[in-house]
Amino acid sequence: MTKIIINADQGKERISRHIYGHFAEHLGRCIYDGIWVGQDSSIPNTRGIRKDVVEALKEIRIPNLRWPGGCFADEYHWKNGIGPKEKRAEIVNTHWGQVTDSNHFGSHEFLDLCEQLGCEPYICGNVGSGTVGEMQEWVEYLTFAGKSCMADLRRENGRDQAWKMTYWGVGNESWACGGNMRPEYYADLYRQYQTFVRDYGDNKLFRIACGAYGEDYNWTEVLMREAAAQMSGLSLHYYVFPGTWEEKGFAIQFSEEEWFLTLKKAIFMEELVQKHAKIMDKYDPDKRVGLIVDEWGLWHDVEPDTNKNFLYQQNTLRDALAAGLTLNIFNRYCGRVKMANIAQTVNVLQSMILTDAEKMITTPTYHVFRMFAVHQDAMALPLKINSGEYAFNNDSIPAISASASRSADGLIHISICNIDPKNAIEVKCELPGIKPVQVTGQILTAPVMNAHNTFENPEAVKPGAFDEVKMNGTELVLQQPAKSIVMLEVSE
Ligand code: AHR
Repeated sequence: MTKIIINADQGKERISRHIYGHFAEHLGRCIYDGIWVGQDSSIPNTRGIRKDVVEALKEIRIPNLRWPGGCFADEYHWKNGIGPKEKRAEIVNTHWGQVTDSNHFGSHEFLDLCEQLGCEPYICGNVGSGTVGEMQEWVEYLTFAGKSCMADLRRENGRDQAWKMTYWGVGNESWACGGNMRPEYYADLYRQYQTFVRDYGDNKLFRIACGAYGEDYNWTEVLMREAAAQMSGLSLHYYVFPGTWEEKGFAIQFSEEEWFLTLKKAIFMEELVQKHAKIMDKYDPDKRVGLIVDEWGLWHDVEPDTNKNFLYQQNTLRDALAAGLTLNIFNRYCGRVKMANIAQTVNVLQSMILTDAEKMITTPTYHVFRMFAVHQDAMALPLKINSGEYAFNNDSIPAISASASRSADGLIHISICNIDPKNAIEVKCELPGIKPVQVTGQILTAPVMNAHNTFENPEAVKPGAFDEVKMNGTELVLQQPAKSIVMLEVSE
């Protein structure tokens, strides 16, 4: 039995909708094929952007989209991606298979995509191989409403109005693909670059410094010590490799041992958030600087017979549970975690969507984002969990994870994951301070651990109604099935 106590009459931090953000890199078939097909394509599109993908992402209320990378960002020269398409420079995508990138998807197309999605753009600028002047001009080109050669160039390219934009990253993984820098060196570069990332008119940028990977706490320490005053956010990247970096393991074929280890590694995100946040607290006790987890997710071996540089992987109920666990962590630490971006949106890593020419399917992870969208901008409710354990071999991890929030319309939402693949668990949720009058639920589960959607069977994993929950005074009692994610909606 698991007991969850939720103080539904309390709560002082909002869960930023940006925790539910996404990431689209020029990598494999994410941008080209997955999002951009071009205006002449027979695949239905709006100005070259797939309609089916836009519709699907709108349904999960995508709040922001990070672009153009990833590692690609530190080799991206934005001027190659503007102006008439036939004149755009073809470049080699050195990180991801040395394929040719036509640059047909550039700044205008990305910002058109964001407008079609109704989401905020999050651009990551090039520090590794770009210049300060190049980054300065990009910001001016995009956001300056007055007269200048950059703003005029934008107008010549068909966009009169400056774009409104908030999120700006200064380099990506500068400790590796972004330039193999030491934190001291990057901290200085960050201070320099961000100086020239100007706020034009009333456009106020939220400047995000490149942060650590995983347990590199020294990176966070140095960046906070040297540059906290100049940043609005500091990033963190963490991927779960079910096996090792060299042999990650397949997305679909895995044992219970791999299920266990994967979810154990996903839970580790909590320790990472706590420890990085503790360092940030030292330099920024008022929590002005957001922890921005702008790359996270499960990274498997590529699907058989696909290009190993394209990072195309399937997505099962295991991915869905890892996503649910992680989003519960971000919700619970929303005082510091202000944004997160799962990697990546379409056809790459733990994606929301898979495409095959004109066909498109959504993944189990997509359904988690759809179910959890109710937490966006809601008030986080403090909770305590006394969870039973999921034991495997000689190890164990908490079987149940949860988070709760109250939305503007007063409804309370509780998301609960049971990662035990074999046992249903009785969960008692106490809600002291309120009188629930109605509870409804949704569930995402499937008969087997590796259930997934395919182009032939696109709805093998999808949410359904959940009614195994009873009200007992101020308590809710539910039988949560094995390997499931439940979202409860409580009204009082
Ligand atoms: O998401 C794939 C890659 O992972 C990104 O390009 C990079 O930032 C990270 O190492």
